[in-house]
Order: sequence, then structure tokens, then C-alpha cells
Amino acid sequence: MFELNFADKIEAMDVGIDEFGLCDSPTSDATVDSSNSKGLLGGQGFSEITYIHIHECDYFSMGVFCIPAGKVFPLHDHPGMTVLSKLLYGSAYVKAYDWIALDCAGSQTIGLAGRVVDEVFKAPHEPSILFPRSGGNIHSFTALTPCAILDVLSPPYSEEFGRPSTYFSDIPIPSLNGYAILEEKPMPSDLVVQGAPYLGPSIVTVDDYVGV
Ligand SMILES: [Fe+2]
Repeated sequence: MFELNFADKIEAMDVGIDEFGLCDSPTSDATVDSSNSKGLLGGQGFSEITYIHIHECDYFSMGVFCIPAGKVFPLHDHPGMTVLSKLLYGSAYVKAYDWIALDCAGSQTIGLAGRVVDEVFKAPHEPSILFPRSGGNIHSFTALTPCAILDVLSPPYSEEFGRPSTYFSDIPIPSLNGYAILEEKPMPSDLVVQGAPYLGPSIVTVDDYVGV
């Protein structure tokens, strides 16, 4: 189990990312900064949203999203999941909702949601945590500067176990400030998420000790 101070203290360098590592070669997208003797990824060298996968097991997944300035990671949910997030560098506008009443009976999920986060996060920022029914389970990020967000999801997304990622549109209700109708939609066609290798320290789990 993670302790919050784990996320409190973690920095981009701890997961193999140097925020400014590729400033001199911005076209070196999703590549290792060969000029960096430490073998770190250059966070600001990405021109697309980039996911750096760190670890996944039955209990949790962990990774970092590097988001270039101006890019949006659209509204999506975390069904039945608890998520710990930490902005490692940069600043992002964060919007998050929790369901108040939803209808899953049709082919599309739709419902009334209350906005619980509507603010700019600027690093250093304390870790945030969301729960299956509170804390802003449905959220979006808009990068105001290049930024990186560490995500620990427990349990991980799993189509097989009924925990898919679903995207939503939010339709504000003018007469109800702070509330919106959220309507399921397909993954936005302009959402591009590329991968990059994890270059940080090896992850050691309890399972690694079994049989030692
Ligand atoms: Fe998320």
C-alpha cells in the first residue's frame, strides 16, 4: 500500500524524467536524451501527450503522462478505482466531477455531476487523490505549460474486469452553477497518446521477494 508521503516527495528525476532535458533538441520526440549521461527522458521534448509506463500488476498501475503546453487530456473516468496523482512539474488546469445521478441503462452513460475541482495546479503541488465516488473521479487536464502527472491507479483499468476508460462531454447547466450533464462519448479522434520507455530505477514489489 502506498503512503501519501511517497507521492509527496517524489520528483520527476525519481522516475527518469528531466523536465528541461531536451530543450536544445525539441524535435527529439519520445527518445532518450543521449546527451544526458544520466539517461533521462527530456520532459519538454515531447510534442504529443506521452505516457511513460512504470509498472502494472493486479493491484495497481503506475505511470507518468507528459503533456505539452496547450494539449488537453479530455474528461475520462476511473470506474471503481482510487487514483493518486502528483503534478511533477509545470502547470495544468484541472477540472473534475463526481456523479450525483447517472443513468447507465442505455447504450451511453449520461448523468448529473457536480464539479469538485476547477482550478489551476502549479508544481510543486501536493498530491491529490480521488475515490470511486468522491474526490473528482471524472477529470480532465489542460496543460498551461509543459507538465507531467504521475498517476497511480488502484486497481488498474481492465476491460476484462469491467473497468474500462470512458470519455465524456460536459454540458454546463446555466441555472445550476457547479453542475453539468456528463454524456459518454467515443474517445476523441484527436487524442494522441504516444509511449516512451521508462528510464527510472527498477520497481521492486512484494512479489519480487516471494521465494527469496
Ligand atoms: Fe485520469
